[in-house]
Amino acid sequence: MLMDALFDGKIMELRALCGGCLTCATCHVYVDDPENPAARAPFGELESVVIGGLREPRPNSRLACQLVLSAALDGLAVTLAAEG
Ligand code: FES
Repeated sequence: MLMDALFDGKIMELRALCGGCLTCATCHVYVDDPENPAARAPFGELESVVIGGLREPRPNSRLACQLVLSAALDGLAVTLAAEG
């Protein structure tokens, strides 16, 4: 998951308070490149509900705890959401 990669990279600004249980949304990120497959992948049902409840959801919003990294996402860059 992106959440784990960010923690491994010592990005401590990412709070991810629920540890990936889809209850906090403090792992909210924006995918910087709208052409990256991560920005266009469909949300899971619960991720969609959580993102829908955010103050400032955007089309490129994702939850880092739900974003599975793969070679297809090579070059992925994200910005941490302010409320995250
Ligand atoms: S870590 Fe809580 S929803 Fe992602």
